[in-house]
Amino acid sequence: MELDPASLPARSRHLLLTGLVVPRPIAWVSTLAADGTANLAPYSFFALVSSAPPTVVVSVGSRAGVPKDTLANARATGELVVNVVGRELAVAMNATSIESAPDHDEFAYAGVTPAPSRAVRPPRVAEARAHLEARVTQIVPVPDDDGVVQNHVVFARVVHVQVDDALFTPPHRVDAVGLDPLARLAGLAYAPMGEPFELTRP
Ligand SMILES: Cc1cc2nc3c(=O)[nH]c(=O)nc-3n(C[C@H](O)[C@H](O)[C@H](O)COP(=O)(O)O)c2cc1C
Repeated sequence: MELDPASLPARSRHLLLTGLVVPRPIAWVSTLAADGTANLAPYSFFALVSSAPPTVVVSVGSRAGVPKDTLANARATGELVVNVVGRELAVAMNATSIESAPDHDEFAYAGVTPAPSRAVRPPRVAEARAHLEARVTQIVPVPDDDGVVQNHVVFARVVHVQVDDALFTPPHRVDAVGLDPLARLAGLAYAPMGEPFELTRP
């Protein structure tokens, strides 16, 4: 099948592309609003784009032209935490995708515990096995041909990392199986990590 994404209805284009770029790790992002209200929401348009400097990106959409809380907070307070979503946190993570008023407490709604971060102000999800604490460095709009911006890519510098001691062998080895990260597929579908294997480099 040959497909021109521009000719597809928006929903089909979204499902086609999110069905092909799989599995996507999920950034469960905590941020703070300017008034200090904590926010928590999942984002699978998420990637590590550089380890020098250590940088992640999260692409945040808008609802009817209004930026989602994560984008508004990233702009206003410039910090975020990526909480790694283990498989057992799937239901809680999904609960935090609810569209809610900025003052809605998504930690309480999802039944997870806010815990202080080390280097940034937004709280961590205590139940997550790993956390990337980060400071926003750039926010890049993604305009369509008419200049309409529905998504912004938030670049953030990782300034502190927490990994469960049981999953970490110094100086850098992480037990991916123990981390047990959940990945997103298209629509309502998710996948656990498969069986890892190694290849030596040519
Ligand atoms: C697993 C998962 C991944 C998601 N990924 C994204 C994403 O990459 N970009 C986006 O704009 N919304 C994404 N969403 C939807 C947002 O989580 C949802 O709109 C949420 O209400 C945004 O919350 P906020 O306004 O508190 O930031 C995702 C939802 C789920 C369940």
